[in-house]
Amino acid sequence: MSINDKNCANDPILTIDEKIELLCGAKDSRTADANGKVPSVFVADGPQGLRYTYLDKETDSWKEQPTSCMPDAEVLAASWNREIIREVGGAIADDCIEHDVDLILAPANNIKRTPVCGRNFEYFSEDPVLAGECAGAYIDGVQEQGIGTSLKHFLANNLERDRIRMSSEIDERTIHEIYGKAFEIAIKHKPWTVMGGYNLVNGVRISHNRKIIHDLLRNEYGFDGAVFSDWGAVSDRVASVKAGLSAEMPYDSRSFAELKSAYEKGELTEREIDECNRPIIELSRKAEQARRVRKSRTNPALRHEIAYRAATEGAVLLKNEGILPLAQKKNIFITGQWAEGNIYSGGGSGHVNSVMQGKSLQNSLLELMPESSVSYVQGFWSLFDQAVVDKFQEAIVAASKADVAIVCVGTNDVIDGEGHDRDTIKLNSQTEKCIKEIAKVNENTVVVLLSGSVIDVGNWIDDVKGLLYIGLAGEACMESAAALLCGKVNPSGKLAESWIYRLEDCPAAPSRYDGNAFVNRYSDGVLVGYRYYDTKNLPVRYPFGFGLSYTAFEYLDLTIEKKSKNEFALSFFLSNVGDRDGKEIVQIYIGKRFSTLFRPVKELKAFDKVSLRKGEKKQIRFLLSKEAFETYSPVYGSHYIEPGDYDIYVCSDSRNIRLKTTITID
Ligand code: BGC
Repeated sequence: MSINDKNCANDPILTIDEKIELLCGAKDSRTADANGKVPSVFVADGPQGLRYTYLDKETDSWKEQPTSCMPDAEVLAASWNREIIREVGGAIADDCIEHDVDLILAPANNIKRTPVCGRNFEYFSEDPVLAGECAGAYIDGVQEQGIGTSLKHFLANNLERDRIRMSSEIDERTIHEIYGKAFEIAIKHKPWTVMGGYNLVNGVRISHNRKIIHDLLRNEYGFDGAVFSDWGAVSDRVASVKAGLSAEMPYDSRSFAELKSAYEKGELTEREIDECNRPIIELSRKAEQARRVRKSRTNPALRHEIAYRAATEGAVLLKNEGILPLAQKKNIFITGQWAEGNIYSGGGSGHVNSVMQGKSLQNSLLELMPESSVSYVQGFWSLFDQAVVDKFQEAIVAASKADVAIVCVGTNDVIDGEGHDRDTIKLNSQTEKCIKEIAKVNENTVVVLLSGSVIDVGNWIDDVKGLLYIGLAGEACMESAAALLCGKVNPSGKLAESWIYRLEDCPAAPSRYDGNAFVNRYSDGVLVGYRYYDTKNLPVRYPFGFGLSYTAFEYLDLTIEKKSKNEFALSFFLSNVGDRDGKEIVQIYIGKRFSTLFRPVKELKAFDKVSLRKGEKKQIRFLLSKEAFETYSPVYGSHYIEPGDYDIYVCSDSRNIRLKTTITID
């Protein structure tokens, strides 16, 4: 139907030039406005917070206005807590409201196929169910406040290297079960827009890929909002209209003439243009209506508190040999620039400059442990992808006299950032050396680790007694680390990706490109992350879903009941048997026995984060619906359920099966 049809009485009457203009985006991060008839929508970057840039007239350069910096997606996913992610989304939306931004270019929801992807800090997980649920909670939180989202970067943009020329060569089943699945789940939360990736899929650039935009995103996943291109990702605007791309972003002066000429030659019809215009007109309307009622509920201080809670929920305790929580009345020594709380965000379009400078680890611990002595010597600091050692001897002397030494290390916004990938998953050699030197003089050494993705800790993990991974945890990173180290908060995060021993263990490590320079074959298929390591029974250092607590949980009495044809109600009891209150993340995996096609040994289908006081016991229930048992058949061109036996695993991580049962589907 044309937007000028009488059936669309409320639509603006647009000339053909105005219709074409709407396809082209506008300058300064706005959608086009067709001579004011379709008010433009102002967009800005995310996802770690609002990245608000402005042109500084004095210096004639673009600057970042400080806003609230939340934990990165890695940390949010490791919280496995939809509620806190939703709160984070709401807080980010409030920043948008205060800056007159209509729509945030977030969340980013690509699967972490390899730990080296430079943008992993922006992505949630290696698992599509966890990633999709996290993205959905983020979308809900933002959009409840009347701010739009742009779910990005659809589809299979899992590396930064040559992202503009790289073709992700993927089979249909893998798209449906892994890379598309994460988006399919999030799309149920109705993001206002979706952003396509820079890359090509099976030889066709996403922005021009009708199979991906029209057939998969719109027809199969039911997405009816606007589809933006990534910034500069269109090379053939006519093809992109035919594929169903609503707006090319940002404005490109060549596009209008290109489209007009195609229209005049009859290569592009008005109907095709109208189809792309409709979602932009609806987006504009939605934003206009929302603008009238939007109201920020928070301020920077309240947002800081949300950032703090999210960071504590998502930090993962990876090693603890009786050293944590820190005992009171002790002499604690801290070293490493990361302890100052000023390295907290990834780099590129997702970088956020925080408006509230969080406290250092030293000050945070002093507040929480007034009877302890807490000292700090920087010792080494971060410079690009290296560390510079400075007055380290002073740190060694202080560490040798302390009861506990805390070494804060990690990556930064140069290593974890857009436009490039990591070369290694090890920390640089200077940093590793600093950890080892401190551990040599203090046997009670604990490492606090900040990074946007997996780190190979092999060179130093045996030297230390504790490891707390806090990700790129945002502006309250050190306050939350302190709360966890001293036990004010019981650690409850679990890894959202597998931590492998060596980069080479990953089946999709870049060195395993099997193809031409710009072809990235997804020959690992559906075996991504734990699906690969668990199925091949390969050792990993810390499995997917793993995280320690200061308390302990017992899983008891699993029962399963058939509710309808392919629907099962599962129930068990979870009990906190330790001596502290805590939270446990329970994970339900399913594995098909004797399949006619190759399937991972088990796959995450449901999860929940449960809060239990010490001694408390709760009944936990899940409903496993038909989707949990489905697989995708390229032959049928649809999902289907294989009859037979399915093992149901109740796990505390992908390797730790606490309860198990089997059901049969006829
Ligand atoms: C990034 C997007 C971002 C856009 C606008 C692109 O380079 O890939 O994620 O939203 O720039 O800044």
